[in-house]
Formats: sequence, structure tokens, C-alpha cells
Amino acid sequence: MMFPHTRAKHDILTEYLKPWFYIIQSRREYVQYMDAFAGAGRYERGEDGSPLIAMEVYNNHILKKSMTLDVRFLFIELNEKSIDLLKSRTPPDMLGKNVTFFKGSFSEAMESLYNENDPMSQRMCNTFAFIDPYGHSGMPMGQVRRIIESEKCDVMITLMTDSINRNAFASEKNQAQGVGLDELYGSDVWKEVLSAGIGKMPKRIDRFVDIYIEEAMKYVPKDRRYSLQFKMKKKNGHEAYRLVFLTKHLKGLECMKESMLKVDPTGGYTYYDASHGTCKIIDLEESKRLRDVIAANQIYEFMKGRTCTGMDLDELFLIGTGFTYRASMLSILESDGRIVVSSNGKRRAKGTYPDSCKIRFV
Ligand SMILES: C[S@@+](CC[C@H](N)C(=O)[O-])C[C@H]1O[C@@H](n2cnc3c(N)ncnc32)[C@H](O)[C@@H]1O
Repeated sequence: MMFPHTRAKHDILTEYLKPWFYIIQSRREYVQYMDAFAGAGRYERGEDGSPLIAMEVYNNHILKKSMTLDVRFLFIELNEKSIDLLKSRTPPDMLGKNVTFFKGSFSEAMESLYNENDPMSQRMCNTFAFIDPYGHSGMPMGQVRRIIESEKCDVMITLMTDSINRNAFASEKNQAQGVGLDELYGSDVWKEVLSAGIGKMPKRIDRFVDIYIEEAMKYVPKDRRYSLQFKMKKKNGHEAYRLVFLTKHLKGLECMKESMLKVDPTGGYTYYDASHGTCKIIDLEESKRLRDVIAANQIYEFMKGRTCTGMDLDELFLIGTGFTYRASMLSILESDGRIVVSSNGKRRAKGTYPDSCKIRFV
């Protein structure tokens, strides 16, 4: 059975790929969607899995006709039966043209992708990699780093926080339980959570995730390290896993933020299985107002005492808040006096913040 949080994960993937396919192919270079733990393409009750979802988004893209470049799909899957099923479910017009199937492990595929003498090499440019294992094994830190350190490559990882936490706990009694974590983190750096005595949830899980992101981005220049996290919670309220997105580009960050905000418009970056089926119909106007108020408070805290121009707003909201910029967010601050706007004597319509205006956060 497919859990509601799996649907939420697929929704995030879908909403990200819609703009990504279009933006990335306009670079007129090789473009690749890589599903590193691809699965069989379909769930028990007939729901599509991530590879079919990705191909569907591409094939039915509203701007497909204006795309000048074919997107390539690379599906990596260890299980022979699953990969055969996935092949049989792939649209026939894409077989042998856009799609490559790799039967083997993620690590084996990575060795081929980064081996100059292998026909698979040279593909790792303009790649969006989705790493979606069941547990936390089979995705060594060294291989994940290779992707995120490659130019124009972004990665979304299902980080199984529940199993990480359980194994870390068990390792205190039986060291062998920690071996898988050493591989996941690239060293025993995760033990810091144990030695710091962070016993309480969710702080403990947060730290496991933060350490993972720090390690994965360790060799990326500091000013290009961007990440987002989205919590998937089970019916009992416990976290099942966290979707972690790593990018070096503000545009990538913006696209993923928008897609995660579609699944949780409050900016809490969380999905609860418990709300599935009992979810109230969201009052769109009310949820937009709520979003604006939260974003206004976040940008105010981030900018307090500083000044910027209208031109800086997109970037400042991306980096300093859980949202993307909208003028309605700033108008809240203007009406309650938390910002002072000067437009160098030029006329400015109420609630607008042109590039040239100066905004002081008081
Ligand atoms: C969670 S499922 C993938 C689901 C799929 N991404 C989706 O959303 O529809 C994980 C898959 O990874 C495969 N797998 C397990 N270990 C692997 C490894 N080391 N490398 C590649 N695939 C692996 C399993 O056979 C399984 O089909």
C-alpha cells in the first residue's frame, strides 16, 4: 500500500520537475533526470512510481513543443524483477531513445558515470538526481558528494531519519549497528549526536539531518550551499523520513521551495499522514494571508536594522525565509511601520516595491 506521505513526496517531485524540465533544457546542454533507487514504476494499487511520474511530467509538459532538447532519463535499480517491470511500463516511444536502465546498485552506477572510459560517463551535467532508498544503506556519502559537487547537478534525498535514529540508538549497545551510519555519513561524525547527549526529539533528528547536509556539502563553496528539508510524519506523529534537497543554485532553491510550499502552504515544511482524508478544505485566501504574515515576520527578523533595494528582494526572501518573495508580504511590514520605503522622489504605487526603491527594516 502506498502511504499518504509517499503521495506527498511524489507531489513535491512533480511540482519541482514541471519548471525544472523547462528551465534546464533551455541551457542547450545534456539534461538528465536520474532516479537512483527507481523501483518497479508502479505500486500495488496501480499508483505510478517516481520514474513514471517523471516521464509523464516531461511527456505532457505544457511547453514540450518549445523545448529544443530531449531530456534523458537514467533509472538505476538493483532488483532485476523490478527493473524488468519498469522497462515494460515505460512508454514505448521513449525506450531506446531517452531512457537508460542500469541494473545494479547506485554505487556501481556512479562508478560507471564517473569513469572516463565508460560510455556512461559525461552524463553528469545538468542532472537532477533523486535518491530514494527504503532504508539508509546503499547511498555512501562519497557518491552523494560526487553528484552535488558536479557542476549544475542537484539532488533530492529521502533521508530515513527513523532508521538512522534507531540504528544510532542501538549502536550504543552494539557497535556493529553503527557501521551503516558510517557509510551514510562518510565517517563516524554522526556520533556527535550521541556524545552531545541530544536525547530529546525532534532536536535529535534535526541534528542528524543537519550533520548530513553539512557533510554532503562540505566541499561546495560556502556561498553556494543551499538546502531545504521537508518532514514526512506518520499517523502517530513520529517522523518517517525527511526529504532533503541540495543545490548550488538560487533558481533550483526557488523551484523546490515553490513545490514544497504547494504541499505545505504554511511554510512549516511538514506533511502529516494523520491529516490525510480528514483534511479540511483549505480556504485559499486565508492560507495566502497566513503565508504572507509568516513570511513578513521571517524577513523582518532576518533583515532587522538593515537596508536593501527592491532588486535584492527575491534573493533575500529565498535565503532568509521559508517562502519566495511576494509584494503582499512586504506591505504587511509597511503598514505596521516595520519598514520604511523611499523611492528617490519617484512615484510608487501603494504596495509595490520597484527595483530602485530603498527599504529600511527599522
Ligand atoms: C523506496 S523504493 C523506490 C521507490 C521509487 N523511487 C518511487 O518513488 O516509486 C527503493 C528501491 O531501491 C531498490 N534498491 C535497493 N537497494 C538499492 C541500491 N543499492 N541501488 C539501487 N537500487 C536499490 C529496491 O529494489 C527498491 O526498488
